[in-house]
Amino acid sequence: MPRVLVVGSVNMDLVVETPSFPRLGETLFGSMFATHPGGKGANQAVAAARLGATVTMLGRVGKDAFGRELKAGLAHEGINTRWVIETPAASTGIAAITVCNADNAIIVVPGANGCLSPSDLNSAEDAFAETDVVLAQLEIPVPTVEHAAELAARHGKPFILNPAPAMRLSDSLLSRCALITPNEYELATALGQTGVRWQNSLSALPGRVVMTAGKEGAYFSDRTGALHHQPAFSVTATDTTGAGDTFNGALVTFWSLGIAEAVHRACAASALSVTKPGAQGGMPTLAELNIFMERDALVANRT
Ligand code: RIB
Repeated sequence: MPRVLVVGSVNMDLVVETPSFPRLGETLFGSMFATHPGGKGANQAVAAARLGATVTMLGRVGKDAFGRELKAGLAHEGINTRWVIETPAASTGIAAITVCNADNAIIVVPGANGCLSPSDLNSAEDAFAETDVVLAQLEIPVPTVEHAAELAARHGKPFILNPAPAMRLSDSLLSRCALITPNEYELATALGQTGVRWQNSLSALPGRVVMTAGKEGAYFSDRTGALHHQPAFSVTATDTTGAGDTFNGALVTFWSLGIAEAVHRACAASALSVTKPGAQGGMPTLAELNIFMERDALVANRT
């Protein structure tokens, strides 16, 4: 199992469930409120750790109750939190999440995540030297993400970027990514190719894009540019928050098995993740993932 360095956000998710999404100016009664650990970075770190990777998290939380709770939660998952830096000047990042019929709408207030700087990464440079792969997202400042890619290159480590939330990527950042893992909208935005067929974008970066496609599963191009499709696993969804993060955490964990097998397992892990509430609630352990995949293979053989 690999050593994974995750450079990214740590949020407290403030979740309300509603029977419908509110329209502009409308006040609705929600049916449930809960706080859950979240943030794309932390979620991906937890997904990888549960599947057996040795994970170090590099990020910032506020010096407040949410920050303490989230950092302790990461440590409880077996994640090295030496580089989860407490930030007196900012509050812990939060995400206001509305869940309706398993779908969600999210507003992120970055707080301390916005303070994660290139010099923080320099302080933690040993963590880049001591990992097998570096994984990042876009909920921290872009110059910090770019510096993470530079440090990964300096230490000869593959840099994998989940370009979420959607943002145009500079050519220099893109050229440093061994792999990007967008959904269809994030892919078009990242490459500045709105209006271009996603199949063309995938083939233009052979072996360097895995595109998640929700209920359709995932698509990827191999080194020759040929397109491949991994169908989704069938489950009953409770909450899709964090499905993409589970996919990313699993993908880096199983990366050494080759892209097709890593995508296969990442789709299975993300399917399981949506069966329970909260971004991290349904993320499987390695044993749970193996049982789920064995059962799925048995059913497939019978039919
Ligand atoms: O990808 C899901 C995550 O996005 C949530 O946990 C929330 O914190 C936002 O960052």
